[in-house]
Amino acid sequence: MAHDYIGSLIEQRLNRREVLQSALLATTLPFTSWAASPVAGKLNFSAIAGSTDDRVVLPPGYTHDVVIRWGDALSSRVPDMHTADIPRGSLLQPDAARHQSQQFGSNCDAIHFFQLNAGSRSTQGVLCVNNEYTNDWLMYPGRKQVFGSDPQHVREHILKYPSIVSMSKAAHGISVVEVHKRRAQWSYQKDSKYNRRITADTLIEIKGPARGYTWMKTHADPSGTRVQGAFGNCAGGRTPWGTYLSAEENIQDYFGNFAGFYARKDIDLSVVAAHQRWRMWSDVSPYGWDVVDKRFDANVEPNEAFRFGWIIEVDPLNPAKPPVKRTALGRFAHEAASPIVAANGKVAVYMGDDDKFEYVYKFVSARHFDAKQPHANADLLDEGILYAARFDADGRGEWLPLVYNPDGPLNAANGFRNQAEVLIKARAAADLLGATMMDRPEDVEPNPLTGKIYIVCTRNESRTDVNQQGNYGHRRIDLGPNAANPRGRNLWGHIIELSENDDDHSAVKFTWEVLLMGGDPANGQLLTETAQLKPGEATVQQSYYAGQKAVAQLSAIGSPDNIGFDAAGNLWIVTDGSQPGNHNNGCFVCPTSGEQRGLLRQFMSAPVDAEVCGCVFTPDNETLFLSIQHPGEGSTLSSLSSHWPDGGSSVPRSSVIAIRKEEGGVVGT
Ligand code: FEO
Ligand code: CA
Ligand code: CA
Repeated sequence: MAHDYIGSLIEQRLNRREVLQSALLATTLPFTSWAASPVAGKLNFSAIAGSTDDRVVLPPGYTHDVVIRWGDALSSRVPDMHTADIPRGSLLQPDAARHQSQQFGSNCDAIHFFQLNAGSRSTQGVLCVNNEYTNDWLMYPGRKQVFGSDPQHVREHILKYPSIVSMSKAAHGISVVEVHKRRAQWSYQKDSKYNRRITADTLIEIKGPARGYTWMKTHADPSGTRVQGAFGNCAGGRTPWGTYLSAEENIQDYFGNFAGFYARKDIDLSVVAAHQRWRMWSDVSPYGWDVVDKRFDANVEPNEAFRFGWIIEVDPLNPAKPPVKRTALGRFAHEAASPIVAANGKVAVYMGDDDKFEYVYKFVSARHFDAKQPHANADLLDEGILYAARFDADGRGEWLPLVYNPDGPLNAANGFRNQAEVLIKARAAADLLGATMMDRPEDVEPNPLTGKIYIVCTRNESRTDVNQQGNYGHRRIDLGPNAANPRGRNLWGHIIELSENDDDHSAVKFTWEVLLMGGDPANGQLLTETAQLKPGEATVQQSYYAGQKAVAQLSAIGSPDNIGFDAAGNLWIVTDGSQPGNHNNGCFVCPTSGEQRGLLRQFMSAPVDAEVCGCVFTPDNETLFLSIQHPGEGSTLSSLSSHWPDGGSSVPRSSVIAIRKEEGGVVGT
């Protein structure tokens, strides 16, 4: 119904800009609006088997377009990147960074589609895609693997080729690009007025309670109100008012010289505690930017790291508008930011903190969403309450407010002098409130059809089978299982379904249950009752698919990461990491209600050593956009494990693909 209604409005009275905003709103109205969706349909495709092929594998009748690849030029002012030249050192050349700053960025992750065309079919839109990080050892000859390589090697390599830093910064951030479906195929539009790059050097506004706070000030920005760049951007979201949210995640990998900083006698110990809580201790960071750019040197700019780890808001249709870091949503290793309008008109944003033993968060806006005036919502995310979740063993739970209060517990006596410090140290605040330590919560999203929230815990190899105190990072914690994270050594991950009390997304209490516990039902034990998911009893050989019993019909899955929903409310899951059978990562789908609830089947398999992310449908559900991130990541330039997507002996590159039916129609049905 929503699309027909919007279509008639379009013909009646809206100008183009309003048409765009209405089309955007059509996919983000409160969850009940999907109920009569014209594109809802039952899943009906031939599930594929897990694969180790270096290609995109799809069910019969499906095909995909490679829409845009790392290095494709967004503007005709720069050339496309030629990956054949990379082993000869092309990205070490003086022009590489300037070119990259107008080319599609590296390691694409979160995708959101903002439809431009009127009508019920999706044929033209703007894609916002974030570019999480770089695989330096597949970019620069002579560089060893970023992680686990010795600091001396990184330092020497960066000092030999300092232009790497500007090149890599240009490859990070966010890419905004116009896309079209022409003669059934998707491609991107070079030189579109919407095309835009945000890199690790782009100026970004800081707003919300931490704006201008002492800890946000640096030599380059004594006001603490503007920061250079974004990096480590992982999943994201889209707001009901048509903007894109990007989540800064693994920022600890970009800062160095902590030993030098921590050795000083003249420093604020609460700053030290804040950095240590984030496991910041590198001498030389894995990327090595700190070797030549002193803003990443903790001993020179101890506050710079406080300016990262936020949610960033981008207006995709207004390229001149600076992006904004929204500090009210807290600072942690953000994965996803999924808004939904609550029944009372406030906006709830669901978020995960993707590290072992970290938390699930929700922000609830102070003000109400204004559907009639999208621009009135521009700063809606600057005022509200941030909560962290506590999951109780009886299937209930509570959202705990991260609010400074002189009477405690979040007060100066406990290390929080004001609300800015509560938000900058959100993890420590959630520790104090007794939030539940999860198995790396990645995507957290409401199902737009039912309003239920899905929390994806990707895995946690460090959780122990028995409850015992131990060290993780600088914390002494219980490393063992709990009700919401029942498996000790959780190799395959699990998904939790959360129902807000009274279906009110601004509520502070909820109920929850495990929907799915990953693994390999055919080569292990399939559990069929929630009562079997007792903490400490569930093992790595066991799996659970919402009570489904037919082993032969279920696909094995590990490391669920990002999710998406089609208009029928089916849960689409993409993976990043270990899979049963050592298969490649892929895309899976299951219904969330009815007899087939939890009947998970594999829909797609990715190229070798790639993770799959993005996972967003066009409003007409005829296209599923996925990010194929870091194909070939486990290999080296001299011995590549993937040549996707260009084939032959090419260097692999991350790309956005569009999956569609060969004959057209709703994907999955
Ligand atoms: Fe960048 Fe949590 O995946
Ligand atoms: Ca992710
Ligand atoms: Ca991940």
